[in-house]
Amino acid sequence: MMNPLQTLLGERVGLDLEAIPHASVLIRRRMARLGIEDEGAYAARLADDPAEFDALVEEVAVPETWFFRDVEPFLFLQRLALSDAWPGGRVRRVLSLPCASGEEPYSIVIALLEAGLRPGQFAVDAADLSPGALRRAREAVYEPASFREKKCPFGAAFLRKDGTRTIVEDSAREAVQFRQANALNCAPLPGAPDHYDIIFCRNLLIYLTPEARRRVLDRLDRQLEPGGWMFLGHAELPHVFLPEYEPAPHPRAFAARKPETGTGRRSRTTGREISYTFSRKV
Ligand SMILES: C[S@@+](CC[C@H](N)C(=O)[O-])C[C@H]1O[C@@H](n2cnc3c(N)ncnc32)[C@H](O)[C@@H]1O
Repeated sequence: MMNPLQTLLGERVGLDLEAIPHASVLIRRRMARLGIEDEGAYAARLADDPAEFDALVEEVAVPETWFFRDVEPFLFLQRLALSDAWPGGRVRRVLSLPCASGEEPYSIVIALLEAGLRPGQFAVDAADLSPGALRRAREAVYEPASFREKKCPFGAAFLRKDGTRTIVEDSAREAVQFRQANALNCAPLPGAPDHYDIIFCRNLLIYLTPEARRRVLDRLDRQLEPGGWMFLGHAELPHVFLPEYEPAPHPRAFAARKPETGTGRRSRTTGREISYTFSRKV
């Protein structure tokens, strides 16, 4: 049976404490700061103290991320950008949720710019629960730990070195809108479009309760255009989480395409027939 602390975190933000490394140590640390020894008493405090709840979430929400994580998803994104599935004429919308400290949405922007898209041809929305992570994302200044991929073919033109730090150039920064959001909420992000052509939701589902996973996937499925692509993390295989989606024809992209349901297989936004063939190889 779940204890009150697990229930509270699960219901409010979907996190499954058993899936989070060192969660009990992190919780004990917060309890010690408040001089609370009993978990039940701490859960009661959390229920009535939004600041403490946010501080705990900030501790336990795993912030780990890096530029061009897994590489292949970004190569596949470039293939999509150059394919008939992504014709010009309309701004293409991409969502990165959760975006953590910004490495993922900036990687998306850089991959698309380096594929030859112009800034006005696409827009990237990025959202996360953590205000601390979003602050770092907006600063866009990164330490070496944010660059872990050994063979990474992206980035040179949009990342500037400043000593040991790396700064994202304004041309890439300006293509991302950051917002704070709880992935569990069903409402569209404030000020953001209702639907996206591509959604990156990587390395969140593994930390969620089964119920929260279902809610997040339902929400994102509703927000993805028919024929749009969902990118999950490498431990969140699309064919397990989204069995009705079609897996990407690109090894280790961990992406899958939403079925084109409804009459005439038309895009919800453009009303155009959706076709999908790769016209160019990247
Ligand atoms: C491991 S990072 C993943 C970042 C990036 N997508 C990647 O794959 O590198 C997980 C992020 O999920 C965020 N998070 C956890 N629960 C969330 C929720 N309910 N809504 C939005 N973001 C959440 C955390 O704040 C953290 O930044």
